[in-house]
This record gives sequence, structure tokens and C-alpha cells, in this order.
Amino acid sequence: TKKADLGPLVGAVDQGTSSTRFLVFNSKTAELLSHHQVEIKQEFPREGWVEQDPKEILQSVYECIEKTCEKLGQLNIDISNIKAIGVSNQRETTVVWDKLTGEPLYNAVVWLDLRTQSTVENLSKRIPGNNNFVKSKTGLPLSTYFSAVKLRWLLDNVRKVQKAVEENRALFGTIDSWLIWSLTGGVNGGVHCTDVTNASRTMLFNIHSLEWDKELCEFFGIPMEILPNVRSSSEIYGLMVKKKKKKKKKTIGGRCLGDQSAALVGQMCFQDGQAKNTYGTGCFLLCNTGHKCVFSEHGLLTTVAYKLGRDKPVYYALEGSVAIAGAVIRWLRDNLGIIKTSEEIEKLAKEVGTSYGCYFVPAFSGLYAPYWEPSARGIICGLTQFTNKCHIAFAALEAVCFQTREILDAMNRDCGIPLSHLQVDGGMTSNKILMQLQADILYIPVVKPSMPETTALGAAMAAGAAEGVGVWSLEPEDLSAVTMERFEPQINAEESEIRYSTWKKAVMKSMGWVT
Ligand code: G3P
Repeated sequence: TKKADLGPLVGAVDQGTSSTRFLVFNSKTAELLSHHQVEIKQEFPREGWVEQDPKEILQSVYECIEKTCEKLGQLNIDISNIKAIGVSNQRETTVVWDKLTGEPLYNAVVWLDLRTQSTVENLSKRIPGNNNFVKSKTGLPLSTYFSAVKLRWLLDNVRKVQKAVEENRALFGTIDSWLIWSLTGGVNGGVHCTDVTNASRTMLFNIHSLEWDKELCEFFGIPMEILPNVRSSSEIYGLMVKKKKKKKKKTIGGRCLGDQSAALVGQMCFQDGQAKNTYGTGCFLLCNTGHKCVFSEHGLLTTVAYKLGRDKPVYYALEGSVAIAGAVIRWLRDNLGIIKTSEEIEKLAKEVGTSYGCYFVPAFSGLYAPYWEPSARGIICGLTQFTNKCHIAFAALEAVCFQTREILDAMNRDCGIPLSHLQVDGGMTSNKILMQLQADILYIPVVKPSMPETTALGAAMAAGAAEGVGVWSLEPEDLSAVTMERFEPQINAEESEIRYSTWKKAVMKSMGWVT
């Protein structure tokens, strides 16, 4: 039978901390045609350490592409119409590999990993109080979260990495770089690059000049020759090589954005003051600040939002980063076993409809924004003999909402104009209890697009709009027809405030566990 010709299609690899997905969109209508998802293992070799296998991540990308193409075939859709592939990825996670063998030289050190806490403390002592050049150049606080310290650890502790650097065989990259290098040929001419959004999370990148910063590289002791080339977020980086045939496939280009920037684009937050919150493994609220680099006084980060083309201007964002959101549900599933699938959390929480005074601060990796407190650890408090697993499930969902309230408050203070509603996306937003709770705790409406895959959509849009691909135009009205679901606050304001202030008490108790 003749295949349906829907016009140009665009694919997106969405490589998150918990899973990898490949999605294919119709570039004319932005309709999601098909997708496939594979969960990614996380290893915890020691307390506070979080690692992933870069080869498993790469394999999962191939698997998702293959399965999605099979599904498109079953729908009688012609896959040769896929004109470009975008990449959005978990940011900061650090990989070093050998450019001659294509082998990773150690596991990927995941953004959540805490092993560099003492490195961070030692480095902090070398930053003069009146001249925090790291913050002013990168927009970031010195923290275990960012790639520079992870790379420093690999250089200090892994002999294979040291040797490869000495022999000029080592390449460093965040997940986008590792994937793009591998997908564009690897040892046979793979392209070693990253985009400005991912580079801005390494702590080695000057967000004003948009270049790797020599002074920062010297400060962290990072050899500049192992760093990838930094490109805009929307341009053709290279051509994808078919895994089996080792042959360049003409039609597939690519572009990339860190996942949170991709979601900002996918949510059409192109104007100054527009914001979105994405619920993934962590939870990230980004507010577009236009061409201005706004520095927070309330614990938020300044980061590159996007630069959609070589000659296009750069946009910045203020970001509130929460380390643990969806990860707390995975923990309840994998470590406590109180649910078998992540979806079951909604059923448990619904059974009780309250935490019954139980508060859960999931500070598994310390606390990120607005506290930046590495000494914090998770606590569950307010327990009585009445408390059961349903209350704990409810408290876990509430924790995600309270953490969002904290970063929204900080954002409102920094921006001066409070957000009138919150645009949300990400896997957890299919949980209606969570969305209602979020509206109750923020006390503003929460608005979610009916197609929640905005991260992938943002990646696909930027890929389709790249010069030389040109099948998608990035006009704001393009998606104005997107249908939205809206959650209004349903409790009274006083109750919302009381719950929030009790949460704050619980947060204080979670701090200072590790000295
Ligand atoms: O900064 C980390 C972030 O990019 C991870 O995103 O979707 O895996 O929670 P996610």
C-alpha cells in the first residue's frame, strides 16, 4: 500500500534522567504521531553517588528510534519524510570518552551526584568574598550540581581518564555531546559539539561572551582541548549515521537544547516574563528574561535559555531548580516498594486526600534552589500510628508542590511582578491530584497543554527551524491553538498558607544532617 504523505516530519530524542524517548511530530500541525520510551537504570555505587552507563543511554536512543519508526510504519506513515532530529537532554551529567575507541572511560556522573561535596568546599575557599567570579561569569553558585566539579573528580580519580588526557584521546561532554558524537559517526568522524544551553550548565562557560572561559578552566583545572565546540541551539550539527549500515543518511540533521530550555521553547515562552515549570526527575521553573542576564537575589540561577540559530540573539532565563520531584515517586517504588508502577501513586493519594499532618522533604541530594544546602537529607516527619502508606504517598506529591512554591516565591521576588498563573509540563502533570494540589499550594491557576510532551516538541521545533532544514517556523502564533487544561485553587488561602508554613518547618529540620 502507498504510504501516507503528511509532509515534512521532525523527530526528537528526549534523553532524561529517568528515561529516553523518541517522538515524531508533523511539522505542519505539531501533532505527535508516534513515540517510544525506555527507562534508564541509575546506579548508586555509594551513598550520594549517582551514575549511569553512557552506552546504555546510547543504546536506548537507538532502540527508541527503531521502535518509533516501526510504529510509524504500522500507521502507514512514510519515515523518509523525517527531515531533522532534535536532541533534548538531561543537563550537567558528565561523560568522558576515548575518541579513538569510542568507549566511555567511566560511567556518566549524573547531575544529582554528591561525590564532589568536598571538592566544592575546597574550591569555595579560593573564591574571594567580594569577587565571586564564578557566579558573575556563569550565573551559577558553586555546587555539586554542575559539570566542572564532576569532570575535576574524574581527572583526579580515574586513571583511564588521566591517561587518555595525557595521550590526547579524551573527549568531554554532557549527554547531548556524547549522543551527537556517537550518532554522527563516533570514531568515524563524529561531531564533537554542544549547544549554548548545555554549555551554560558546565560552570566553564562564560554566559556573556558565550565562550569557554580560560580563567574558569584554569580555576577548575580543566584542559580546554577536551571541551566540545559550542554551537547555537538550532543549526545542523551533522548527519546521522545509520547504526547497522555505517552509511550517512542524508536527510537527518540535528540540533539540541538542554531539556529545560527545550520545554521553554515547546511552551512558547518566547517573551520576557513568560515562565514554565517542568516536572521530570527534578522540577525546573524557568522564566524568560529576554536578552538581559538577570542575577537573582533569592537563590535562583541565571542561565542561557536558547539561541535559535547562528545569527540569532541569545535569550537568558532565571531558573529555580529542584533536585527531586519524579525521583521521589521512583524511590517509593524501587526503595520502599509501596507502589509497583509510578501511576499507582495517584490512586494511593486519592484514597486519603490528605497527608494527615505528615510532611516529606525529599532532600536526597541536599537541597537545591532556593537553599543550595548540600548538608540537607531527606526526612519524613509528623508521623503517628495512624499514618499509612497512602499518607506518605500524598506527602510525597505535596512535597513536589511545596518545592515549586518555594522557587515560584523566589522568582516573584526577583522579577517584581508575580506570575498570574503557572504553565506546567512533564510526565508528572498527567497526575490530576498533583495538579490540583499545585494550584491549591501556589494559590494561582495551573495551566497545562493537552499535549504534555513540550520538551520534545521544543527540541523538534528548533530542529525543524534550523537553517538548511526550514520545515518549521518559530512564530509564536504557530501553536496558539493548543488546548489547555486549567486547575484553579480550591481550598481557602489561609489553609494553603498554614500548610506551606508547616512545610518550611520540616525543611529546617532536614538541614545540617551531614557535616
Ligand atoms: O538539570 C537536570 C535536568 O536537566 C534533568 O531533567 O527531566 O531528567 O528531570 P529531568
